[in-house]
Amino acid sequence: MSHVVVLLSAGRGTRMKSSLPKVLHPVLGRPMLSYGVEAALASGAEEVVVVVGHGADETQAAFRDAGVRFVLQAEQRGTAHALGVVRQALEGFEGSVLVAHGDMPLISSGMLRRLARTHISSPRGMVLTTVELDCPSGYGRVMREDGEILRVVEEKDASLEDKRVREVNAGVYAFDSGVFDMLSGINDENVSGELYLTDLVALYKNSGLGVRAILWPVASDLLGVNTKGQLAEVEAIMLDRLRRHWMDAGVRMIQPQTVYLEPGVRLAADVTLWPGVVLRGEIRVGPGAVIGPYAVLIDSNIGPEVEVKAHSVLEQARVGRGSEVGPFARLRPGAELHEGVRVGNFVEVKNTRLADGVKAGHLAYLGDAEVGEGANIGAGTITANYDGRTKHRTRIGAGAFIGSNAVLVAPV
Ligand code: UD1
Ligand code: MG
Repeated sequence: MSHVVVLLSAGRGTRMKSSLPKVLHPVLGRPMLSYGVEAALASGAEEVVVVVGHGADETQAAFRDAGVRFVLQAEQRGTAHALGVVRQALEGFEGSVLVAHGDMPLISSGMLRRLARTHISSPRGMVLTTVELDCPSGYGRVMREDGEILRVVEEKDASLEDKRVREVNAGVYAFDSGVFDMLSGINDENVSGELYLTDLVALYKNSGLGVRAILWPVASDLLGVNTKGQLAEVEAIMLDRLRRHWMDAGVRMIQPQTVYLEPGVRLAADVTLWPGVVLRGEIRVGPGAVIGPYAVLIDSNIGPEVEVKAHSVLEQARVGRGSEVGPFARLRPGAELHEGVRVGNFVEVKNTRLADGVKAGHLAYLGDAEVGEGANIGAGTITANYDGRTKHRTRIGAGAFIGSNAVLVAPV
């Protein structure tokens, strides 16, 4: 039997105290919701439905090509109301309806598949996912009697005694398609005045349909992000997993806890990352390369045996085998260094190709230029590429020697 995944993502995210819709806040450079979407698609869902509301236009624009279907919840009246708006979109669908929140970026496809499997084994009832937390504050508490689940009590409605319960509702559920009829039994008579999806637990229980729970062993997999503090917590967990992944693949990190990298980074074996390295976007680093302390690399390609020295900043740059960059070098978009190139301190390179063996040791600006093999660029050299209206190119031949303080007024 098949399943669909509904990702509730319409909430304002008041506790983030931000003008950006909550599910668009970046986690390691990608919108929080993208992780849930990826997991849902990879779980083999027949369809992934994203419920949008607050900031709907922005969210839809960000996920236009993600392969999901959007349903608008124009007014955000609570999580049960959010599921209710999906009813028409899923008209005629008979399989399992999995529901998760857009604010849990650590969710995995494996967990969703397990949830779907558990549900199919007894498809009339509901399954919820729970975790045990040392600090359950903020989450809905799972109330059991003799081991059986009776209901979920939201933090705001919980008594002091309820609040002592450490088993919480993770916000990932599986229902039968009859869930949409069940929603009509929910009211907003609670402290928030919202329609709580969690009230379905008591409704399913009281109708004699089964309520089962998967107690997920790794609590951190299901952390929900409601505040910037939780955002940082989730990001730290993801970062830690990424670092471990690359260290297992043979990367050496000195003080790994200070290294920042994103999911689009690919590192070869025997790469060394010094403390404070920042790798953002799509990055490739070849075997044996060394990225020095506090270097910042964005969308760049670093060849084998390259050394990027301390405090260099590279964006959309390519650096060929055995080249040396920095310290304090700046490679801007379109900087293309072939093999064995040396770019030293306070050298800026933009939209410029440096052929094999070029040396620009210090204090230079090379923009919109071609520099031939083995050329030497003296200190203080600049390409004056801009005449106030247009940019022009500078061509420097192979083996050329440009003395100190030369101003090359392009086109030249
Ligand atoms: C919710 C659960 C709580 C659970 C916790 C797990 C309810 C009532 N409470 O609380 O039991 O422990 O998640 O993280 O469900 N949303 C909409 N439309 C709305 C309201 C919310 O789409 O009208 C979306 C939000 O964008 C968010 C998700 O639903 O992605 C959950 O809402 P949120 O306000 O974060 O609920 P929690 O307080 O975290
Ligand atoms: Mg939440």
